[in-house]
Amino acid sequence: PASDALVFFGATGDLAYKQIFPALLAMVARDGLDVPIIGVAHAGWSVEQLRQRARDSVAEAAKKAGASVDEAAFAKLAARLQYVDGDYNDAATFTQLKQALGDAKAPLHYLAIPPSLFGTVVTRLKAAGCAEDARVVVEKPFGRDLASAQALNRTLHTVFPESAIFRIDHYLGKEAVQNLLYFRFANSVLEPVWNNRYVDSVQITMAEEFGVDGRGSFYESVGAIRDVLQNHLLQVTSLLAMDAPIGSDPAALNAEKLRLFRAMRPLAPDEVVRGQFKGYRDVPGVAADSDVETFVALRLHIDTWRWSGVPFCIRAGKKLPLTTTQVVVDMKAPPLSVFDTIAAPQSNYFRFRLSPQVVIAEGMRVKRPGEAMRGEPVELIARHHAGTEMAPYERLLGDALRGDNSLFTSDACVEAAWRVVDSVLGHGNAVRPYEPGSWGPAEAAALAGDEGWHDPQPEAAPPC
Ligand code: BG6
Repeated sequence: PASDALVFFGATGDLAYKQIFPALLAMVARDGLDVPIIGVAHAGWSVEQLRQRARDSVAEAAKKAGASVDEAAFAKLAARLQYVDGDYNDAATFTQLKQALGDAKAPLHYLAIPPSLFGTVVTRLKAAGCAEDARVVVEKPFGRDLASAQALNRTLHTVFPESAIFRIDHYLGKEAVQNLLYFRFANSVLEPVWNNRYVDSVQITMAEEFGVDGRGSFYESVGAIRDVLQNHLLQVTSLLAMDAPIGSDPAALNAEKLRLFRAMRPLAPDEVVRGQFKGYRDVPGVAADSDVETFVALRLHIDTWRWSGVPFCIRAGKKLPLTTTQVVVDMKAPPLSVFDTIAAPQSNYFRFRLSPQVVIAEGMRVKRPGEAMRGEPVELIARHHAGTEMAPYERLLGDALRGDNSLFTSDACVEAAWRVVDSVLGHGNAVRPYEPGSWGPAEAAALAGDEGWHDPQPEAAPPC
């Protein structure tokens, strides 16, 4: 059954402002979301202040999108909004929450708060009688390493069954990431070549032009490995590499994903390069001698019959030349080049642009018009659009309210992902400086093999 109320802890915080209010407004506008929405925080605010905050949030989001606020939808959202103010350590806060819930029997609790508070909040929810038949959404980062993720799972399980826990990874809510899964399993031509006989290597690049301004102290506590590799990029890898699920239901999808996660070999320190952009240590909140990585590049191995011998070269960084996430699956060259003297590198590939656009393209060679049997690389574009149809948080919150956990991470998957990165969290590898606006430290180049990294280029306009 669908949840009959939405409670979000951390209502006055950054995540609520940037993501949750705009998602709620879109849900009211699209599906008429009609449940009590209760913000909880410890800020001494009134409900009017929270409504104003919601107003500012959706106005800013609309401005960014070059749109205007849907006033009718906002009026409904504002009317549904309630606010509970209090300390998360105080039982009285949860008594108030229980009252605010009124007749609601099965609320969804969204914990947009630091993980260190998860334990306190879920225990108090239970004590106040707010956890029965309820669901809980928890934000990333889910723990700091394998041991802390296991401890967090144990804590959550003391109050909620696994089926009621929704660990969010907003990458899984992206249109392009959904399409990656769909495209792979809705077509028959990929499966025969999607293995180590035909695939040479896979590259995943998550590049961000911006740095960590405004989030220096948060970033100091994570670094690129915890911030985006353990979650977003390993999740993308699992969707790229998993076997076909036996159905589209959440259990079938999660079972195949888990098999894949379990086959990922723990990272070897000599196949990981950590980098830090020059100037990071001057960011407010960052230690003057910080060795936190703002860039990571690595080779990942997947020990299955399908992928044995195919390196997955993954890198992510701040202050790189542009902002985009892209996957390139490089196919092996033809066994002999009959026509052109050079079997041009990288001309057979699949390219998935995951952000900011949605692009699915296949790289091929075709003959150039004329007498000579000479070719040129072309891209067949299967999909090319802006990818702004539904924001990840709207999709994921809607799924959580309906109880559909296919786009959320299970306890076993999150632990398996930590197992992959645990060996390189200790900062044993020295952090290498790199120039802002470059593709990271020179040491990363060797990880991508002879052909090197395919640096993503600005995306061309969609074909007419
Ligand atoms: C977040 C990370 O999870 O994902 C950020 O904490 C990162 O550091 C962001 O910038 C990227 O997400 P998106 O959707 O903007 O590509």
